[in-house]
Amino acid sequence: MSDVLRLENVWKSFPSPSGGRLVILNGVDLAVKAGEVVSIEGKSGSGKSTLLYIAALLSTPDSGSISILGHDASSLSLKDMLEIRRSGTGFVFQSSLLLSDFTALENAAMPLLIQGWKRKDADERAMEMLSMLGLADRSSHRPDKLSGGERQRVAIARALSSAPPLVFADEPTGSLDEKSAECVEEMLLSAARTAGSALVYVTHNPDFASMADRTLLLSEGRLSDV
Ligand SMILES: Nc1ncnc2c1ncn2[C@@H]1O[C@H](COP(=O)(O)OP(=O)(O)OP(=O)(O)O)[C@@H](O)[C@H]1O
Ligand SMILES: [Mg+2]
Repeated sequence: MSDVLRLENVWKSFPSPSGGRLVILNGVDLAVKAGEVVSIEGKSGSGKSTLLYIAALLSTPDSGSISILGHDASSLSLKDMLEIRRSGTGFVFQSSLLLSDFTALENAAMPLLIQGWKRKDADERAMEMLSMLGLADRSSHRPDKLSGGERQRVAIARALSSAPPLVFADEPTGSLDEKSAECVEEMLLSAARTAGSALVYVTHNPDFASMADRTLLLSEGRLSDV
């Protein structure tokens, strides 16, 4: 199986208040195969979000190479990079970041419409995703009329509606109570497996982490197997 994501020797630092640089990632290597589910654990502040944003091309490293869906990220034009992000990847953030003026269905259908799907097909597909996530009867609700767990499930539907080959999730259940977190965790994994998407997710929760095919630990700026 081919790798859908490969990071080699990735470094990232930020300016520190005392004037120097704070090195957050110091030589991260990561390879993810098509359809593989990988979890990343690590202490608060260890750089998990930083790493995920770099891997998803939402941020750039100081050095190192990133290959995503067969493309070398450093040689992509802005247009090609946006196209890969739009049609090749999905991202579930810790808080759902749904568009507040749109219904659950419209939010879930949005990436498909942006990719040029016909409205009817996009709605049909988005509805299928919402149903799979137990939200069939919430499709016409706006985000402010949904619970936190429901909003995260809409965000999952949105990230996976086009079955992108690569999906990232940054503590997707971090803001939920234990019970809704468990339900959303199971749904995220089963939605990714059904779509055949590779999934890289970050979590503090060891039980959730252990549901992945492979669990990695980010510590002192590097990833290792758990
Ligand atoms: N834009 C930035 N400027 C300066 N420092 C930053 C910036 N972004 C992140 N950092 C620092 O980098 C470190 C890692 O941050 P990051 O958000 O990646 O951690 P994390 O592992 O995701 O933590 P958490 O589990 O709390 O979400 C932190 O110490 C943070 O303060
Ligand atoms: Mg984080």
